[in-house]
Amino acid sequence: MSVTDQPEAEAPEGLEALEALEAQFEAVIARSDRVEPRDWMPDGYRRTLIRQVAQHAHSEIIGMQPEGGWITRAPSLRRKATLLAKVQDEAGHGLYLYSACETLGVSRGELTEMLIEGKQKYSSIFNYPTLSYADVGTIGWLVDGAAICNQVPLCRTSYGPYGRAMIRICKEESFHQRQGYELLMAMMRGTDEQRAMVQESVDRFWWPALMMFGPPDDDSPNTAQSMAWGIKRNTNDDLRQRFVDMSVPQAEALGVTFPDPELRWNAGRGHYDFGQPDWEEFAQVVKGDGPCNAQRIAHRRRAHEDGAWVREAASAFAAKQAAS
Ligand SMILES: [Fe+2]
Ligand SMILES: [Fe+2]
Repeated sequence: MSVTDQPEAEAPEGLEALEALEAQFEAVIARSDRVEPRDWMPDGYRRTLIRQVAQHAHSEIIGMQPEGGWITRAPSLRRKATLLAKVQDEAGHGLYLYSACETLGVSRGELTEMLIEGKQKYSSIFNYPTLSYADVGTIGWLVDGAAICNQVPLCRTSYGPYGRAMIRICKEESFHQRQGYELLMAMMRGTDEQRAMVQESVDRFWWPALMMFGPPDDDSPNTAQSMAWGIKRNTNDDLRQRFVDMSVPQAEALGVTFPDPELRWNAGRGHYDFGQPDWEEFAQVVKGDGPCNAQRIAHRRRAHEDGAWVREAASAFAAKQAAS
């Protein structure tokens, strides 16, 4: 029966039922409880979550590439094993998040398709190249560090499967940050050349790391609705400030500086003042025009195509099992 075939009298009842569902949803959000996959949710809430969780999953998977290239070139067995474990963790994060996204009614195949067709995005940071081995340390310290700032509040996000995935991810991210910082510490205790390599790497990654929090609040049209729905718990600028405040003492302990002449402690605010990243550059990279966008997507597409036989074999095996 189509909607137009519905008897007139049923309409108010349907409307009342919808209002009751909406009220129930609002009450869950107001209590800071979790919304679960079988619960009713507004279409906009579902769409926003699919966009955010998918973007997050894609970032984990694409994020394996910049560091993955250094696994075979890591300077010792210990460094190789640590980096291998870290890159594998990122694959795991992608899988938890694709699974969380599937509970919203979109398949992993569709999500992968949208990524390689450029219809969904991933974090802009992974479109920058890793030019030296120090970048492995800097990514762990600053990029995983920024990810932690973004993700710790997401453990309390309103959608259950997403929040639960984040709890485990955050534990692993803090290992990533420590391994990066420890790697840089070791290099800073080394030769002048190694110290220069660390500083050069930090200079290249500082601004792109600040961009990871997204555009300034005035320029972030989705933030208010996402916060009202309990999907986001803090604004972009709040999180960026938290990251700067956390990173400056760590840089001092390490013996490196950040390439920002405006960076200074503001006793009145109780926070560091800092300059703005180049938002033009950010827009370019998000649009697909960063240094490595084409390379990252081409690599992901190739890996997906190379894996086709595995998916076919698994489906054939499942069909055979079901038939017997
Ligand atoms: Fe991760
Ligand atoms: Fe990580």
